Formats: sequence, C-alpha cells, structure tokens
Amino acid sequence: MEFTMASFLSRFFKFGSQNMAIDLGTANTLVYVQDRGIVLNEPSVVAIETINGIKRVKAVGDDAKMMMGKTPDSIEAIRPLRDGVIADIEIAEEMIKHFIRKVNGKRTSMFSPPEIVICVPSGSTSVERRAIRDAASNAGASQVYLILEPMAAAIGADMPVTEPVGSMVVDIGGGTTEVAVLSLRGLAYTTSVRVGGDKMDEAIVSYVRRHHNLLIGEATAERIKKDYGCAMVPADGIGETIQIKGRDLVNGVPKEITITQANIAEALSEPIGAIVEGVRIALENTAPELAADIVDQGIVLTGGGALIQGLDDYLREETGLPVSIAEDPLSCVALGTGRAMEDPIYRGVLMTA
Ligand SMILES: Nc1ncnc2c1ncn2[C@@H]1O[C@H](COP(=O)(O)OP(=O)(O)O)[C@@H](O)[C@H]1O
Ligand SMILES: [Mg+2]
Repeated sequence: MEFTMASFLSRFFKFGSQNMAIDLGTANTLVYVQDRGIVLNEPSVVAIETINGIKRVKAVGDDAKMMMGKTPDSIEAIRPLRDGVIADIEIAEEMIKHFIRKVNGKRTSMFSPPEIVICVPSGSTSVERRAIRDAASNAGASQVYLILEPMAAAIGADMPVTEPVGSMVVDIGGGTTEVAVLSLRGLAYTTSVRVGGDKMDEAIVSYVRRHHNLLIGEATAERIKKDYGCAMVPADGIGETIQIKGRDLVNGVPKEITITQANIAEALSEPIGAIVEGVRIALENTAPELAADIVDQGIVLTGGGALIQGLDDYLREETGLPVSIAEDPLSCVALGTGRAMEDPIYRGVLMTA
C-alpha cells in the first residue's frame, strides 16, 4: 500500500476508535473492525423470553440459534430480518447493539465513538434504511454510512466496480437473492428475489413430508442442504444416499427414512429455478454495452447459497455465460463493506441515508 501523509494522518486520527463495517444479513451478521478484519460472525437470531407479559432478550446470535425449534412456550427465537426486509426493527436494533457491544468490550468508554458502515439490501425502502441507520446511532456510532449489499459483495469479491466495465454479481443469502449489474461505482441494474437458502430448506421439509410422510425441522433440512444440496441430478442419476430422522405424520412416532441426492436436487429445483429466473430478468434489462462486458467478465456468485454443489455449472448452462464462485462467499459482503470503509477509492459508494 502506498504510504502518503494523508493516509498516515487519517490512520492516526482514527486510532482507537474501532470503526466498524457490519454485514447485517438475513441469516448471518458479520462485523469487520478497521485494520483487524472480521471479528464476529453469528446467526441473525434473537431469543425473546416473555415473563408476566414482559418481553426481554434471552440470547443473541449463536446462543439464540441453538434454541430455534427447541424453545419452550415462553421463549421465541426470532430472525428480525428473515425475508430481507426488517421484519422487526426493535429486535433488529437490540441485535445490532448486542453485537457492537460484544465487539467493543469496554473500549467505548475509553475512546472516541466509532464510525459504522452498514450494508443494506438494494431493495430496502428509505424508511427501512433510516431505521437501520438510527439503530446504529442508538448503539453509539458517531457517524453511520450505508452501502448497498450487491456493491459490498462485488467489492469483497474483487470485481472491477470502479472501472467503466460492466460486471454481474449474484448474492444468494438466506432470505433473498440480489442480482446486480455494476459499473463505475454504481448499480446499473438491480433486482431482488425473495428466494434464498431459507426457501431451499423449506423445499426439503415439504419434499420429505409429501413423499415420505415425515416431518422434519428447518435445522435438519438446512444440515441436509449444506451436506448434500445440489443444483443438478448427479451424473449417475442417484448420488449419495441420505438417512433422515423425523416424526411420522401418520402415527406420530419418530422414524428414519432413506432418500438420495437426486431427490434433493428435485426438491431444490423450484427455488433454484426462481434464482435463475432472476438472473435472466436482470440480463434482459441490462444495457447492451454492459451486457457485452458481462459476456467477457461473467457472473460472480456470492453468499452462502453460492456453495450449493453444481449451482455454478447449472447457471453456466442456463445463461451460456462464464460463472465463477467468489473465494469466500459467506464473507464477501463483510469484506467488501470493510474495504469500502478503509480504502478511499471506494468513498463514492458510501451513502449517508
Ligand atoms: N455449504 C453450503 N451449501 C449450501 N448452502 C449453504 C452452505 N453454507 C451456508 N449455506 C446457506 O447460506 C445461507 C446464509 O448465507 P448468507 O450469505 O450468510 O446469508 P445472509 O447474507 O442473508 O445472512 C443460509 O441459508 C445457509 O443455509
Ligand atoms: Mg448477505
């Protein structure tokens, strides 16, 4: 990195203030601290306990996710951003505050308050953006900047976003898939599909129920998806065999069944088809000059959903374009948000509201 007086001074003045970049995802929240990198990576889940009609936060993040599907009636595990919009702003704010406090430890009292950059879905409304900004201010930020999620994903994936070259990023998260065409620090086109990893989990739950009368929880479905999920039927038409435990819908007792990876591909075909459709619509709406660039640059996949086996090949087949998976798809947005905060070349992509 080039060492200039200006960069030295900006570093000097920021010393100790713990500036942070936050990827507030529907499934996972990651916090990047200036000059340190990603220091927190936990599920976007809050467990709320109600006692005598009064609600209080029982657990946040990893601890809260472990409670999902296993809570007694008095405790509810909530994902405040579940479908990509802020379903519950108060709980989202509690979650942001909890994570910031966890990263800060006791430091806030000793140093100046931090600047915070938070990424927001490109489809979020101005009301939602203001709510997120206020939540970060309430949590103690001196200044809050926002960055659009696909822009952060593209920066994190080392795409040429500052150049006059069109490129496409597809970020497949838990609640949504964001498809965007970027050029010259801006989003030339963006669309958000309300389909992501959650819909894939639900598709597995419903496949197993329909074909085997077996009821399984979403956590079990997610595990199966991560271990065996695939976008195409395996070459031998079967793939691996999978044992699944759950509750029999007919007689109510626990039982175990066996299905194949090909069955999982069949179950996932609908949500994956919806993601491919989103990409197709984005391509149809891209200006010709930028579309020509995408033929060369190809499509880059980010987000946890990019890890589904064979999704890149499937998208390549469906679009005829080069498709690659970012190096660390689950961290891309946090890394990109962090870089946008640290590197002046990206200053133009930060927004104040
Ligand atoms: N290896 C994997 N294969 C398939 N899906 C995965 C894998 N790892 C994580 N996921 C899924 O990715 C989603 C979370 O991705 P993430 O990018 O963190 O979402 P968000 O940004 O919405 O929080 C979850 O639905 C999770 O089940
Ligand atoms: Mg994300």
